[in-house]
Amino acid sequence: MEDAISTRRNTSKIALVTGGNRGIGLEVCRQLAGNGITVVLTALDEKMGLEAVEKLNFSDVISHQLDITDASSIARLADFLKTRFGKLDILVNNAAVGGTVYLQDPVDDPVTREENFNFMDRYQRLEWLWRNSRETYDAAKECLKTNYYGTKHAIEALLPLLKASSDGRIVNVSSDFGLLRCFGGEDLRQELDDVGKLTEERLDELLDQFLKDFRAGNGVVEARGWPVAFAAYKVSKAAVNAYSRILAAKQPAVRVNCAHPGYVKTDITLHSGLLTPEEGARNVVKVALLPAGGVTGAFFEEGKELASFV
Ligand SMILES: NC(=O)c1ccc[n+]([C@@H]2O[C@H](COP(=O)([O-])OP(=O)(O)OC[C@H]3O[C@@H](n4cnc5c(N)ncnc54)[C@H](OP(=O)(O)O)[C@@H]3O)[C@@H](O)[C@H]2O)c1
Repeated sequence: MEDAISTRRNTSKIALVTGGNRGIGLEVCRQLAGNGITVVLTALDEKMGLEAVEKLNFSDVISHQLDITDASSIARLADFLKTRFGKLDILVNNAAVGGTVYLQDPVDDPVTREENFNFMDRYQRLEWLWRNSRETYDAAKECLKTNYYGTKHAIEALLPLLKASSDGRIVNVSSDFGLLRCFGGEDLRQELDDVGKLTEERLDELLDQFLKDFRAGNGVVEARGWPVAFAAYKVSKAAVNAYSRILAAKQPAVRVNCAHPGYVKTDITLHSGLLTPEEGARNVVKVALLPAGGVTGAFFEEGKELASFV
């Protein structure tokens, strides 16, 4: 039996999903596995990863621990993949945090909450989410560390394996909150959009400046042209978008795209979203499974390619 699975693994595509134990990530794993792809479901907590694999109940889904903010955890995963598969075909960078402290427990009373949301439109739901969130410096710092630097470091470690595939793809699960229309300042918008000029070093400087401005207070964040409300999350996803475009230009052998799953009912939104995790995941998997030789350096909003990142 194990021999049969090993043979299939040698011929089938290999995908890896970060933050695969719950929410959209778990559904991405389910849908990729349903397409006959061998899936490495990674989770911060090893036990949660094993439980998620058990729940999915596919023979070709295996779990591995991964904390994208921990260099040694990333290195262990890369070693495991190299030894076991020697390549990686699809990397879905899904793991992220919200960048705020929630004033409600995400898993508290979801039924009553869901009933209340039925009477709210998208803007009322986001307004509710904002009222139940508090921005703190520590949460903002953690958000950039996880959503941007964690994603980037995972990509850097796994890039050689993606290049060993004949059709390596990276899907960075981003957000419409990372589009440049969220930034008040024209200079920042232009600098982040001009990826021909923008460097990774300059991105680091901009993110350091954001944290300094954030520490200085709300007035400064707004005056400098950063996004307001969920500021760190928006900045982290804008950085992921810019980095994806830089990487796409540098690595033509690998396709690098960003996917906004939609506004989804998961813990990160305190279950206030409009889509189910399954529907959100479909928008990500669609980008992961685009026909060979397709676009790179693009942003897909709920499955549709946008003309720009603005
Ligand atoms: N939900 C939405 O409406 C929405 C909209 C736009 C974009 N997105 C994006 O969609 C993706 C998935 O979000 P979701 O809604 O499914 O959120 P979620 O339910 O809160 O899941 C987040 C996942 O990320 C993992 N994670 C957090 N920090 C990590 C780290 N350092 N290393 C590895 N894994 C880590 C979590 O692991 P633990 O379980 O161990 O905490 C969890 O598995 C995120 O990139 C999010 O920004 C979501």
